[in-house]
Amino acid sequence: MDLSDNTNLFGVPPAAERVLRESRPESLSRYPRGYAPDLRNVLASRLGVGAACVTTGCGSDDVLDSALRAFLEPGEVLAFQDPTFVMMPLFAKVNGLKTAPVPLRADFDVDPEALLATGAKVIYLCSPNNPTGTPLSRAAVEHVVEKAPGIVIIDEAYVEFSSAPDFMDLARTRQNVLVTRTFSKAYGLAGMRVGWGVGSLALIAEVEKARGPYKLTTLAESMAVAVLREDPMWVEVQVVEARRNREHLRAELMSMGLSPLPSEGNFLMVPMPDALGVAQRMRERDVNVRAFQGLTGVGDALRIGSGPWPMLEAALAALRESLR
Ligand SMILES: Cc1ncc(COP(=O)(O)O)c(C=O)c1O
Repeated sequence: MDLSDNTNLFGVPPAAERVLRESRPESLSRYPRGYAPDLRNVLASRLGVGAACVTTGCGSDDVLDSALRAFLEPGEVLAFQDPTFVMMPLFAKVNGLKTAPVPLRADFDVDPEALLATGAKVIYLCSPNNPTGTPLSRAAVEHVVEKAPGIVIIDEAYVEFSSAPDFMDLARTRQNVLVTRTFSKAYGLAGMRVGWGVGSLALIAEVEKARGPYKLTTLAESMAVAVLREDPMWVEVQVVEARRNREHLRAELMSMGLSPLPSEGNFLMVPMPDALGVAQRMRERDVNVRAFQGLTGVGDALRIGSGPWPMLEAALAALRESLR
């Protein structure tokens, strides 16, 4: 049982299965269209922005990576909150960038002045944050956006699970904000690799140039469009359940004397000593969770994905045995 990657443990939206069943051989043998126009148009019309203000990618990973290439030259600095999404330092490395990790404050909000003091031309924020699950405050994010010398990326991969307000309005109204989202979490399509981003016309044009064509397959684009059109209820029902079970899991963990962080994602971060050892013992009981070591401001911790309650019950049982 794998609760380690925050994907949708309830399965696949019915519309995606239908697209797979009905797909024609040409969608495999021929190239897809260059820039996924159908998905772009559907997303844009839902947001009330022009299609040229939306970009898509092979997962939001691709949008994030392309944005770094678009706005930074090798040797320049990417600043990001710390801890955050582990792929950001990796994308920085493959693009030859320097990194400026800036510790989150004790309340898990970003420290705007410290981020701005890096002078970085690209600042990455993530809300709700992976791996802590904590959201960023409006005041702190606006402060960064207002004063940043360059681009501010706001990664909203887990926004569907959050009761905190999102930051999409900043992507619509500010020239320097890119908000990224994904079909990998709430939408249950991680294997199809579909992500997207929204920003000003000029900003998105640069990201698209760095991204290049043919990143979404025909099947992936068709599935994403079909799920948006046909399955909003499926998504909503699973999101509600994932949130409810997350809180149930949190209460159970607290009754065990643990202190999971408050989370707005579909996962919980649970600080504990020797998290690597605990995760290893849980794996021996066939439950895979993600272990972190020495995270800034947190220390060692497990990250446990939320899903159907029987899975979480099994995870709890494995955790209890692994802590003995
Ligand atoms: C914060 C965050 N951003 C982006 C991603 C990448 O998602 P994808 O490339 O599947 O869209 C993830 C995946 O775990 C994530 O946690």
